[in-house]
Amino acid sequence: MKFPEALENPIFKIIGRLADRSGVQAYVIGGFVRDYFLQRPCTDIDVVVAGSGIELAEKLAKALQTRVTVFKTFGTAMVQAGGMEIELVGARKESYRPDSRKPEVQAGSLEDDQLRRDFTINAMAFGLNADNFAVLVDPFGGMQDLDDLIIRTPCDPDTTFSDDPLRMIRAIRFATQLGFDIDPDTFDAIVRNRERIRIVSQERITTELNKIMRSPVPSMGWELLDQTGLLEWVFLKLSRLQGVERRGKHAHKDNFYHTLKVLDNVALESDNLWLRWAALLHDIAKPQTKAYDPKQGWTFHGHEVLGSKMVPAIFRELKLPLNEKMKYVQKLVFLHLRPIALVEETVTDSAVRRLLFDAGKDIEDLMLLCRADITSGIESKVRRYLRNFALVRDKMKQIEEKDRIRNFQPPVTGEMIMEHYHIPPCREVGMIKERIKEAILEGEIENDFQQAWQLMVKTGDAILNRTSLENQ
Ligand code: CTP
Repeated sequence: MKFPEALENPIFKIIGRLADRSGVQAYVIGGFVRDYFLQRPCTDIDVVVAGSGIELAEKLAKALQTRVTVFKTFGTAMVQAGGMEIELVGARKESYRPDSRKPEVQAGSLEDDQLRRDFTINAMAFGLNADNFAVLVDPFGGMQDLDDLIIRTPCDPDTTFSDDPLRMIRAIRFATQLGFDIDPDTFDAIVRNRERIRIVSQERITTELNKIMRSPVPSMGWELLDQTGLLEWVFLKLSRLQGVERRGKHAHKDNFYHTLKVLDNVALESDNLWLRWAALLHDIAKPQTKAYDPKQGWTFHGHEVLGSKMVPAIFRELKLPLNEKMKYVQKLVFLHLRPIALVEETVTDSAVRRLLFDAGKDIEDLMLLCRADITSGIESKVRRYLRNFALVRDKMKQIEEKDRIRNFQPPVTGEMIMEHYHIPPCREVGMIKERIKEAILEGEIENDFQQAWQLMVKTGDAILNRTSLENQ
């Protein structure tokens, strides 16, 4: 079968002509072919050459008057052209991965190369030479598996996974991204080989975890990780959320499945990766804070505080960034109960102002997370929560319009206080500012310069008088 419309970009003809002239066969292979059939955009092109990939890359760079980057140890070369990244490699008999621990590989035919790739849907190729331009070469039934929505390894899955154990997580990642099933033999091999994941670097694992997290229904990936037994190896703390304990009439929810539901709820509304991580981690400290009270049943007091404290160690372990993204996740985990607490209590203006102040620019994300966290099975309870939740939202809107707390800037600054009292930076300046902020949050005064100035003078006189008395 021929698919010329897949290779409309003139670059493919150029590569084909150069290959013809050099007397080698060249194919575009892997993700590009798969994504063409899935109608997904793809700017990474992998070209496999029955011969030297580096030589063909050098000729291509010359023809396009661009540069080539050569990775000699791996026998690969990269050329950038027309917004595309083209990687050229010689066909191999051994494991495909360029970062495999034994990179000395034997040259092989196209079929050898296809056989050692991860999945049938990633092992299809289009010919580039004149005699087979755009012809699909698919010896392992990748097209069929695309039609049947199946992830399957081209050769014995134990071999595929021992060549590169990361592929076990990749199988789950592709299944999650594409909504495919994992073929039962492939699945069983993951279960058998799961422990081998420990030899894979955390960076490579986390790249796949983030792709799972960005998928339309990310819970699918975490459930598959759990069902294959990989979860314990890649994220033990998450697997510890599993289980339901009962005492008398009291049972708590299974926090693993609850967490996954919250994650999916968030994913429906937002593609913010870090909000999704916050959803995954919002209850992470529940096992450590769990207690039983004969009257109240199961409690998890302080799990939001402990959970937010656990975030840095988790980010370090998973090699996630230790920057403002982590701080954002910490903040959301820390605050995730606050909006719902407002719903349960009678909502006072000052409580709403404090929430706006603490959440700041992330208030919308926090509200989304909190709303996603309402997963009770009891319908009347959910309805009541959602109704009250809407009330909190309305109130928040009114108060924000009036008081502008969200991006709170002190109406009277430290400099103004120092200038007024002719004092240097000192503890008292902080105390005066804090008093003004508190008065605004409590609703004693409005977020307004005149009122804040009056309070500043009153407070400042009192505090500075007191301290000057103390100093005598
Ligand atoms: N590959 C493999 N084993 C791996 C990684 C990759 O066999 N552990 C092969 C697959 O044939 C894959 C190709 O290398 O299609 C390119 O890999 P990569 O760029 O990582 O992934 P893509 O398949 O392009 O998918 P995505 O862009 O979604 O990561």
